[in-house]
Formats: sequence, C-alpha cells, structure tokens
Amino acid sequence: MVLVLGLETSCDETAAAVVADGREILSNVVASQIELHRRYGGVFPEIASRQHILDIVPVIEEALAQAKVGWDSLDALAVTAGPGLVGSLLVGVNVAKGIAWARGLPLIGVNHLEAHLYANWLIPPNDTRHAVQKEQIPPPQFPLICLIVSGGHSDLVLMTGHGQYRVLGRTLDDAAGEAFDKVARLLGLGYPGGPAIQAAAENGNPCRFSLPRAMLERGYDFSFSGLKTAVLRIVQRYASGGKERGQARYRLFSSPTASAQRQLPLADLAASFQAAVVDVLVKKTKRAAEEFQVKEVLLAGGVASNKLLRQRMSAQINVPVRYPPPILCTDNAAMVAAAGYFKHMAGERSSWDLDVRPGMALK
Ligand code: KG4
Ligand code: ZN
Repeated sequence: MVLVLGLETSCDETAAAVVADGREILSNVVASQIELHRRYGGVFPEIASRQHILDIVPVIEEALAQAKVGWDSLDALAVTAGPGLVGSLLVGVNVAKGIAWARGLPLIGVNHLEAHLYANWLIPPNDTRHAVQKEQIPPPQFPLICLIVSGGHSDLVLMTGHGQYRVLGRTLDDAAGEAFDKVARLLGLGYPGGPAIQAAAENGNPCRFSLPRAMLERGYDFSFSGLKTAVLRIVQRYASGGKERGQARYRLFSSPTASAQRQLPLADLAASFQAAVVDVLVKKTKRAAEEFQVKEVLLAGGVASNKLLRQRMSAQINVPVRYPPPILCTDNAAMVAAAGYFKHMAGERSSWDLDVRPGMALK
C-alpha cells in the first residue's frame, strides 16, 4: 500500500489528507475559511494566507491522527503548487518542503486543476462498497473528457492517459463558479454563490427569463460575462421600478436595495441563470465527448456539485458520466494526494526549488 499525504492551501481552505494507492481515503481534513470571508463577499487574500499559517499544522496532525498513520508510514508528500492565490500557495508549499526535507519524503508539486480532476479516482467516503472491495468501483477509463468548473476555472480537457492532457477550451472571461458568485451577489444571495443560487432556483421557472447562451455552437471555449451582464440589466430594470434601464443607480457587485430585493422574482431569475450556465456546459461537453469518442465524461471542481449540472450531463451524454460527491468537488487535499500518487508512481519528483505558480495552467 502506497500512502500519500496531500496538502492544499491554494485559496480559502486549509486541507490535509492521507490517501492509499491513489484511491482510498484514510483521512480528509478541511478547515474552511468561508465564515471569515463571507463579510467581504469573496475571498480576502491576505486574511486567507494568515489563516492558513494558523491552521496548517493542526490540520496535518488531525489528518495523520484520523488516518491512524505515523510519519514513517508515508511514502510521499503532494502539495498544490498552483494555480491559486500566491500568499496562500506559499504556506502549503513551504510547509510541504519543510516536512519532506525533515522526514526524507519525496516532494511532489501538483496542479490544482489536475487535483480536481483526480477527485474522480477517489472512492467516495460514504460508498457502501468502500469497506468491502475497492476493486468493485473501477477507475475512470481513457480516453475521457473532463469538465473542470471551479471558482477560478472552466476548462474542457481531453485526457488520454495519466498526466496526458489536451485543453480543448477554457473560459475567455469569467469562470463558471465566478459567474455564480457574482450573480449571487447581484441578487443579494451571499457567498459562496453557487449553493445559494442552486437553493434559490429550486422552485423557480427556468424559462421565465431568456438569457444568452454565448458561443453555444462555436468551439469549446466558454464566455459567461455577457450572461452576468444580462442578469444585471434585469435587476436594474426591477430596481428602477420598470423604468428605462440605466436610470437606476445599480452597479455590478453591489447588493440590491431592500425594495429592489422585494420585487425581484428571485427564484425565476436564479433558475433562468442556472439553466443558461448548465445548457452551455452540457452542450459543449456532449459535443466534445462525441467528437473524441471517449469512454467516460468526468465533472470536477466546485461547480460540479451543482445538482442540475449533474442531472443534465447524465441524461444527455451517451457515455457514463462520473462526478465526485460534493465534499470532494470543492477544495480538499484528498484530491491532491490522489493526483500526487499517480505522479509518484510515474517517478515524478519536485526539486527543493519548487516554487508557487499562481497562474499555472494544465499542460
Ligand atoms: O473548486 P472550488 O471549491 O474552488 C476553486 O478552486 O475555485 O470551487 C468554488 C466554486 C465557487 O465559485 C462556488 O460558488 C462554486 O464552486 N459552487 C457551486 C456549487 N457549489 C460550489 N456552483 C454551483 N452550484 C453549486 N452547488
Ligand atoms: Zn479548486
């Protein structure tokens, strides 16, 4: 059994996990900073890095204790090296270097997007088959298409083997999660926006507002900023009591006034927005799956926990669609350990000059 300790500090979650053979989660500890950042309506980078410093050691100790393994049982240490917030990444990478040096462990820098993708190799923690036989849940089959949709990225990736990626398309402006977060703020729904919009949309009519689906038929890139602006225009119309748009003093990133909030058909607007994002994501992923004749489609990243996205993908795509449970979609370190395991087995090592790369792309 090969045990990898994973560390993740790229944004606002301090996380450590121990994973066996790249698939079996022995522990998965996440210290979330959501409450700290909520009052700012988004992640405050300086606060995030300071909190990582406070949390990282206890989180690692907890991960080892829960996994019931000692330092000597570990085979490698994997850490997110980018993309992400520079100050946050620095905490994880430097702690990882210190531990790897002190304990004589191989150090493996992992791309955060790659880690999200490898969450699909993990055996879901509450899967009843977990205790019985992990072989009963086969790993993803290549070639596959993976849609990585998070707060910072929307990438459509063709994967032909471990570590072999071809990015078919990415967002030209806002990431899918970023669009959810910005529109949630616009609707006064708070942070993080994805779960808030999903909840608000539950009883809404997704056909009430006709919102743009940018570049639907063209290529594999995404664009969500026009959609966000279209929602803004509708909110402005309600804020001005139906007067000509532009009259209301209402700007992107501000929260609606109490009276505008009362009049907004929140559920319908949230449902219409969510449907527009999901339509584009599903259509492009389906087209890619057909063009490249893949065996499977994987969803990854925080937005992959969206219920409508999961349902539509599974219903409309002809090959099996796999997605991690919500707890493994949002930032965690088990996914980092899983990605690190496959690199470790391929003989990949980072040197002591491993540095953070805030803008790191998937190769
Ligand atoms: O992957 P993640 O935890 O962090 C990044 O690497 O960015 O993703 C966070 C993003 C946020 O934008 C959040 O609003 C979105 O994932 N998200 C969702 C849902 N849950 C989280 N978006 C849509 N529906 C959800 N249920
Ligand atoms: Zn992430």
